[in-house]
Amino acid sequence: MSEPIARLHSLRSVQLRIPTIAESTDFYSEVWGLSVVEQDHDDTWLRGTGENHHVLQLTRADRNGLGRISFAVRTRAEIDEAARRLATRGIPMLCEPHGLETAGGGYGVRFVDPEGRIIELVAEVHAVKPLDRDRAVPVGVTHVVLNTIDIDRAVAFYTDVLGMRVSDWSEHQMAFLRCNTDHHSIAFNQAAWTSVNHVAYEMASIDHFMRGIGSLKQQGITPLWGPGRHGPGNNTFSYFADPAGLVCEYTSDVAQVVEDQWLCRVWRRVPELSDLWGTAGPPSKDVRTHMAGIEDPGAAADDGAPATGVAS
Ligand SMILES: [Fe+2]
Repeated sequence: MSEPIARLHSLRSVQLRIPTIAESTDFYSEVWGLSVVEQDHDDTWLRGTGENHHVLQLTRADRNGLGRISFAVRTRAEIDEAARRLATRGIPMLCEPHGLETAGGGYGVRFVDPEGRIIELVAEVHAVKPLDRDRAVPVGVTHVVLNTIDIDRAVAFYTDVLGMRVSDWSEHQMAFLRCNTDHHSIAFNQAAWTSVNHVAYEMASIDHFMRGIGSLKQQGITPLWGPGRHGPGNNTFSYFADPAGLVCEYTSDVAQVVEDQWLCRVWRRVPELSDLWGTAGPPSKDVRTHMAGIEDPGAAADDGAPATGVAS
């Protein structure tokens, strides 16, 4: 078996393609608690209080979809090596390693996963100073859940090519993958079509988490589902719909994995394990509909790149 193409350091940012750029920019900056770092006619880049230049990029599009998922890699040399390994594996790159001219800069390489999602590995992104951590606002993005039409193929690609490890399964319905000590940075959900299920934002503590929910409530925004605590990952959850109808989550306290000491298990999908506190109840039809979203052919399709059938 070949080595993974790189050693991922962390999930760095997510790009969402939406038709509601103005409303969503207002929501994420004035309500959700992120801060705008750059903005132009078609894009907004937002940060949390953590060390990432930005954690969310909103991009104007005709319909909802996922843009890029960016992972931080430590060094430029590792990006170059990732490109060589992609070539060896026959996985087409959208672009060779180069200095990125988008907000935050950096040196990166982009390629496409088997379902048309654009993956970016990036190093040397502009540094920013962390902001006040007392406020009940997100530190950054901590995980993304992706709907897949073939969970085994998706897990195989992300473990084999990207070196992620499976932390847990929720029956054969969801798989939780890690790239560092966080229990999951990516999770896949077997579904009828490919789409983004939700994006989760880390709150610094359970107190920040509850105060954040309280702040949203004061502004008339109530959760689609939550608050509660999940079994797999042990993280708290509270899910909301953004102006585009995409699901965003406040979460905290995700389980920390010690490599070689973690036993991957298969969780049963029963209410007492998906909602440990018993506060949230089962997910409603409404939250399920939002999490299913609409079929997403992948941003790569717009770039004229292969959207499917990429060798893995
Ligand atoms: Fe989540």
